[in-house]
Amino acid sequence: MMSYRIAQIRLVNSHPEVYDPCDDSFALVDALLADRTNLLEHRPIFCLEIGCGSGYVITSLALLLGGDVCGSYFIATDINPHALDVTSDTLKAHGVHAELVNTDVAAGLEGRLMGLVDVMVVNPPYVPTPEEEVGCDGIASAWAGGENGRSVIDKILPIADRLLSDKGWLYMVTLTANDPSDICLQMKKKGYAACIVLQRSTEEESLHVIKFWQDPNSKLEANKAKVLNHGGLIWVTEWNALQYSVASAFMAVLYSDYMFWSGTPTLYCNGDQYEPMDLRNFAISQANYVLGSNPM
Ligand SMILES: C[S@@+](CC[C@H](N)C(=O)[O-])C[C@H]1O[C@@H](n2cnc3c(N)ncnc32)[C@H](O)[C@@H]1O
Repeated sequence: MMSYRIAQIRLVNSHPEVYDPCDDSFALVDALLADRTNLLEHRPIFCLEIGCGSGYVITSLALLLGGDVCGSYFIATDINPHALDVTSDTLKAHGVHAELVNTDVAAGLEGRLMGLVDVMVVNPPYVPTPEEEVGCDGIASAWAGGENGRSVIDKILPIADRLLSDKGWLYMVTLTANDPSDICLQMKKKGYAACIVLQRSTEEESLHVIKFWQDPNSKLEANKAKVLNHGGLIWVTEWNALQYSVASAFMAVLYSDYMFWSGTPTLYCNGDQYEPMDLRNFAISQANYVLGSNPM
């Protein structure tokens, strides 16, 4: 079997206040290793780790992708300043480089990295704990995840959505207690498909590494959900809400007439195809809603 370079434990620095590589860190790196061929073909430009701890994961990712000559730019954040010192030593010991940022998730980086991150890796604090322990000083912030272990995860998901590029991949470690299916559902609502790329049970926990990527079908559903309210009315803003549905219903009828008379069989819009009757049915649905056939 072929072996590839990842960070070596003996070269990973440590500090009493910083999370040492553990089963979850190994699971994440193993998932990246298993996906190495795809990662190389992916040719990521910006790679970001949130919560780098000892630097074991970001160093392994940099080595996996070919180090400083691969054309990728590596960035790692951590809320714990000691973690950045330790990560810096770990990177240096392996001869690779990453920009290190002491921040909460990716605060301060969003303007610069919005829509640009091709690979994001996260082994978040996921252990269910009292909410007060989340983000506290010291080593406990490495694992304290609040209710269901979801506090930091739920903060990271929308930020990941904003930072990931159209072809961006997110690899995230979760625990069964975090309700991975719900995490996938939350990301589906943002237009991402997901699959569990690694599942591992230890004596203490059952870990999953989930890979997310933008999926045109989920994106379409997400966009539809953003545009229509739960009763199916076009929804732009609560002020003068009906003007949008009435105007779009009018346009839909007008355009369906044009399609009939001009012999245009289909309208291609946002990844879907519509026939004249689809436009008419849409207009009828808006009119019915306005006239009282709605869930209110
Ligand atoms: C479970 S440890 C993982 C460390 C390392 N990535 C690994 O896999 O070994 C979680 C890391 O996230 C950091 N962290 C916790 N909350 C954070 C936040 N809000 N923003 C950035 N980093 C955070 C912790 O300091 C810790 O280093």
